[in-house]
Amino acid sequence: MLQFPDSFRWGAATASYQIEGAVHEDGRGESIWDRFCSTPGKIFNNENGAIACDHYHRYQEDIQLMGELGLQAYRFSVAWPRILPTGRGRVNPAGLDFYERLVDALLTANIEPFVTLFHWDLPQALQDDFGGWTSRDTAKAFVDYANIVSERLGDRVKNWITLNEPFVVAKVGYEYGVHAPGLHDPRLAWQVSHHLLLAHGMAVPVIRANSSNAQVGITLNLSSVHSATDSERDHYVAHLEDGVSNRWYIDPLFRGTYPSDIMDYLEQHNLTPQMVNGDAAIIAVPMDFLGVNNYSRTVVRQKAGAANGVAEQVRISGAEHTDMDWEVYPEGLREVLVRLHQEYHVPRLYVTENGAAFPDTVSANSRVHDARRENYYREYLTQAHAALSEGAPLAGYFAWSLMDNFEWSEGYSKRFGITYVDYATQRRIIKDSGYWYRNTIRAHGIREG
Ligand code: FCB
Repeated sequence: MLQFPDSFRWGAATASYQIEGAVHEDGRGESIWDRFCSTPGKIFNNENGAIACDHYHRYQEDIQLMGELGLQAYRFSVAWPRILPTGRGRVNPAGLDFYERLVDALLTANIEPFVTLFHWDLPQALQDDFGGWTSRDTAKAFVDYANIVSERLGDRVKNWITLNEPFVVAKVGYEYGVHAPGLHDPRLAWQVSHHLLLAHGMAVPVIRANSSNAQVGITLNLSSVHSATDSERDHYVAHLEDGVSNRWYIDPLFRGTYPSDIMDYLEQHNLTPQMVNGDAAIIAVPMDFLGVNNYSRTVVRQKAGAANGVAEQVRISGAEHTDMDWEVYPEGLREVLVRLHQEYHVPRLYVTENGAAFPDTVSANSRVHDARRENYYREYLTQAHAALSEGAPLAGYFAWSLMDNFEWSEGYSKRFGITYVDYATQRRIIKDSGYWYRNTIRAHGIREG
């Protein structure tokens, strides 16, 4: 038996646009994801989050489900356009009321809320008026929004996550164009990354002021980056890739400066974001914890024929891959957690997302035998336990996800839940991995074998 500390918190995570539905209800404004989904060709099957898991209407049933799973904590996000339909200015009371009902019901069920303030559903008005996160004004609007939510819920919510995965927001949204707002401009993406970090730094003291004894942090997607070969060239590329995807975020948050090699690179390519004196200090505001989302690792090599330093991802054939085609690499989770402890002295860590998409089928007796997902969880949690043994201050773990949901550009085609959702009927079925997780929570540890 691999035993976890008594204080270790076991949870599951979701995000507003992926589960809530009810996009036109109770005064919610349009988000960039509503708009993006309505653009043909952007999303698998042109699907969208208009109904999703209908969680907005079924949150009580879903909290019961959490109870059946034995969850001690639940990470969800607040939809900014429910609170401020145009992103700033007029507050929509019905939006605040919804999250208050949700939080109160969670507390009654003895489930600790972890609230993410921004998990990608930016009000469309801020995109139209300011160009979204390309503008400093959006960072300022975020602080006002964080103030409104934490003022209302701060007496009951004691765990706050400012942003989810700024790297993905910047790169996938503004450079690759695969996520909303669907732009293709690397310069904008770098600017966006700076404004996101700035928004985080400015919001932390505001949340603290509204929520006494709160724990405040941010969630980053962090993967260990490996070189495909032993060559110096490939190692150099891997180091740069680590700089772009990991150090660009961890360094300013925990060391107060952007990594110099990446700053040099940006300078050479005329990509340096605009910054104002004092920004670095704002971003480096002390945090209580860092949230880590980890699913896989990244393997790169120098791209043939491209300029020096240009990376190409390598798919390890023979390794197990999930339905997202992400390599199953449990050791990577340990590597990331131990590094944050040893190199950055992060005071406290949560795994705020970890999980796997696999195709599921419901058996005749209404069971979902998802042995591969169960195995994935067992292996990653075993590595989380190893990180703890090496001193990483890991305080809790959130499975992604509580239930199958709208997987962004992949629509409903990828199932990440420990609970199966039959979208036609909205019936929820706890998968075998969910029962395994329940037993793990009960035992406070992983039974071996
Ligand atoms: C993460 C997102 C989350 C979910 C998982 C699979 O990048 O934070 O919303 O889509 O990937």
